[in-house]
Amino acid sequence: MTADLFEDIHTSEPAHQTLAPGAVLLRGFAREAGAELLAALDTVLAAAPLRHLVTPGGHTMSVAMSNCGPLGWVSDRRGYRYSREDPLSGQPWPPMPENWRALAARAATEAGFSGFTPDACLVNQYQPGSKLSLHQDKDENDFSAPIVSVSLGLPAVFLFGTPQRSDRPQRHRLQHGDVVVWGGPARLAFHGVAPLADGDHALLGRRRINLTFRCAGQAL
Ligand code: SIN
Ligand code: FE2
Repeated sequence: MTADLFEDIHTSEPAHQTLAPGAVLLRGFAREAGAELLAALDTVLAAAPLRHLVTPGGHTMSVAMSNCGPLGWVSDRRGYRYSREDPLSGQPWPPMPENWRALAARAATEAGFSGFTPDACLVNQYQPGSKLSLHQDKDENDFSAPIVSVSLGLPAVFLFGTPQRSDRPQRHRLQHGDVVVWGGPARLAFHGVAPLADGDHALLGRRRINLTFRCAGQAL
């Protein structure tokens, strides 16, 4: 093997896959940092435990959720919204770990959205069979900022459509360490996650954890 070839293999950027104008899949972007990111997860979840939220329609979600950062996304019979307090404890959400915030900002920059300063991080836990129906992230006050979504643990099939619900979504396999960023013309794209297949991940066992970073808006 020549020295040049060796260098190429080991210094090459993670593959970037454009899903749509404004939407990029950064394969493996968080793989190296994965274990470090997960080291902070227990602290976040000890303060704000995972729970299955109820939708305004009365359906209990199969994905278990929590939040960290100044604002957290919640759902109940009254609707979807961002809240400064965890409704379970009445306390502010736990702080967003600095290495999570920094990773999200780097991913956004890599995808062409510099200056990303998330004020909300939704933690989603999928177990075998958990799924997330097609939806838009539109409860934020600021659509000029992108969404940064980090996948950890078991692989999942990510559904990524357009801002029109009737358009059939693309399907992409997301693995541990993959990051998807969508903003600009893709900011209101419908997206979701197909039912999680069972498996055993070295760091997370039978789970997939997704961290979704948003700018929900200072005005809230
Ligand atoms: C979400 O849309 O909030 C989560 C997407 C994912 O789990 O990949
Ligand atoms: Fe979403």
